[in-house]
Amino acid sequence: MGSSKTFDVTAIDVEKVEEGYRKTYEKLDEMLPTLAQGENWLADGVQVVQYQGFWLPKFIVQGIMLIHDHFNPRPTDIILSTFPKCGTTWLRALIFAIINRKNYYDFQNHPLLSSNPQDLVPFFEMLIHEGGSTSSIESLPSPRFLATHIPFPLIPKSMTSSSSGRFVYICREPKDVFVSMWHFMNKLRAKELAPLSLEEAFDFFCRGVTFAGSYWDHVLGFWEASLESPNKVLFLKYEDMKRDPSVYVRKLAEFLDLPFSAEEEDEGMVEKIVKLCSFESLSNLDVNKNGNNTPGKGKHPGTNSDFFRKGQIGDWRNHLTPQMVEVLDKITKEKFQGTELSFDLVSY
Ligand code: A3P
Repeated sequence: MGSSKTFDVTAIDVEKVEEGYRKTYEKLDEMLPTLAQGENWLADGVQVVQYQGFWLPKFIVQGIMLIHDHFNPRPTDIILSTFPKCGTTWLRALIFAIINRKNYYDFQNHPLLSSNPQDLVPFFEMLIHEGGSTSSIESLPSPRFLATHIPFPLIPKSMTSSSSGRFVYICREPKDVFVSMWHFMNKLRAKELAPLSLEEAFDFFCRGVTFAGSYWDHVLGFWEASLESPNKVLFLKYEDMKRDPSVYVRKLAEFLDLPFSAEEEDEGMVEKIVKLCSFESLSNLDVNKNGNNTPGKGKHPGTNSDFFRKGQIGDWRNHLTPQMVEVLDKITKEKFQGTELSFDLVSY
């Protein structure tokens, strides 16, 4: 008697869940054709659409909608939020190393020595889009550590409310973001296509037509959220971290309620983590030099080495014309006007 009751309840839940997903997909079918379309840097046939003010591949909008309708946030969730090319790979590695430091105390067999950071930290919206449901993320044990490019205004309130998890955001000087993105997209572009010219990419970037663009609106969303809820959103800059990574590793650990103990400090744990996750260490590992980042499992396409180029501040100087610099600096100044947010545009 008891077991048949349990079975009935489960059956009703499954039906309810299926009905919920059906409704989400119906909404998507109705909405997606109505959205404005933009250019695709990869020219791979994937449609880029403008959704609630941001440019995104259609399949990512699907992932976002599934998250809105079905994802159950937990108070222990740690969400790494970035605009692409701002240091996602680095922060994936650093946060992974911080939160798992008790498990890999001697650093000898550390997972970061044999796995690309993308393999260790799920790409939230991509994984959900690929699975067609939120179940793969729901089945992860707590605390879940996820990476996302979803702009702050598109994240469901259930995730941003005070009772849910924490966000770490990293941004970067816009000219370096653009140059990094241009190189990256040309690596991912099909070899039979002509490379995307710097000029064409520049036009897309300035108009905000990039994955999760515009860049400036993406940054502003998290900047404002960090001012409103500093205990919930940690706002970092790539350049600050490059100059003094140890300071920010401590800051990250404190923000995540995992401060380094006096004993760990004495043992040089912070410096060990900084070294393990540095551009020089990670980019020289066999897995990151020669490993294939096969599509699927919520990962980016391409090879692992695509995520390690120069890792420097100011590479834009080697690529941009004075006119391009002027245009990008002007957009940055205008977009961030009236906020305390700035990049040291001259000294970079
Ligand atoms: P460059 O193209 O300027 O070299 P993302 O991980 O968000 O895709 O960002 C990629 C950028 O971060 C690339 O910048 C890459 O070289 C740089 N990067 C990757 N790993 C890094 C690390 N451990 N430390 C600093 N920068 C890193």
